[in-house]
Amino acid sequence: MDKLLENKVIVVTGGNGLLGSAMIQDIRNKGGIGISADLNINDTEYSIKCDITSLNSIKETVKDIYDKYGRIDGWVNNAYPRTADWGSDFLDIKEESLDKNVKWQLNSYILSCQEVIKVMLKRNSGSIINVASIYGVVGNDFTIYEGTNLNPPAAYTAIKGGLINFTRYLASKYGKDGIRVNTVSPGGIFDNQVKEFVEAYEAKVPLKRMGKPDDIAPSVSFLLSDKAKYITGHNLIIDGGWTSI
Ligand SMILES: NC(=O)c1ccc[n+]([C@@H]2O[C@H](COP(=O)([O-])OP(=O)(O)OC[C@H]3O[C@@H](n4cnc5c(N)ncnc54)[C@H](O)[C@@H]3O)[C@@H](O)[C@H]2O)c1
Repeated sequence: MDKLLENKVIVVTGGNGLLGSAMIQDIRNKGGIGISADLNINDTEYSIKCDITSLNSIKETVKDIYDKYGRIDGWVNNAYPRTADWGSDFLDIKEESLDKNVKWQLNSYILSCQEVIKVMLKRNSGSIINVASIYGVVGNDFTIYEGTNLNPPAAYTAIKGGLINFTRYLASKYGKDGIRVNTVSPGGIFDNQVKEFVEAYEAKVPLKRMGKPDDIAPSVSFLLSDKAKYITGHNLIIDGGWTSI
């Protein structure tokens, strides 16, 4: 077995979701102690109930894991809380909804970094990954949504773009303390979306298929590992070539 992450204590927020569960699996396959911090938990030993939209819950999660293991080697901000009206057309977005989504998807990642960095500073060591998206790098191609009821949320681009540059801030500030901070930006992941969308997506993307969770997870493990010891502030785009054209 590849022991890339042997005995490293690594937390993935939203570790029970589509991408998070593949990350947890890959981390465990590589010898790491992969802990899912999720609102919905299904495995008691390596899952911890956490609501990233609550600072108290983030603090408790970090404290519980630190008390149990004495360290946190890696933290992946990946959870995806969103309001029920996420995906409203741009002109229909309510101020209250915008505030909530920015707080839940951007501010909560920032606050999670704040809490976990306090712990990582005790050992001058750690690797943090913020999961962003190709839509934090390029604008949306609205043609692929034509004929479907899918609508890419406007706030998503602002949140993910912000996250990519926030990552660089942390990389610059904490490099001297042995803490690396990187972004992983996936392209669209197949999740039984409607046929029209999948076909349009596949026709455009150079590798001619949507992504799969196991296209993303090994790169997350790599960035968490000591093999990536000279990589920080990077945005690793994993998108089958979408952003190359
Ligand atoms: N799926 C894609 O196509 C895709 C593409 C690019 C980027 N991403 C990004 O990947 C990340 C994961 O997306 P996904 O598709 O796996 O989402 P998902 O909805 O499948 O999983 C999200 C997980 O987050 C958990 N969660 C929701 N609210 C939470 C909260 N308040 N606190 C803690 N956990 C909470 C959910 O229970 C779920 O397990 C997100 O940051 C998303 O923006 C996804």
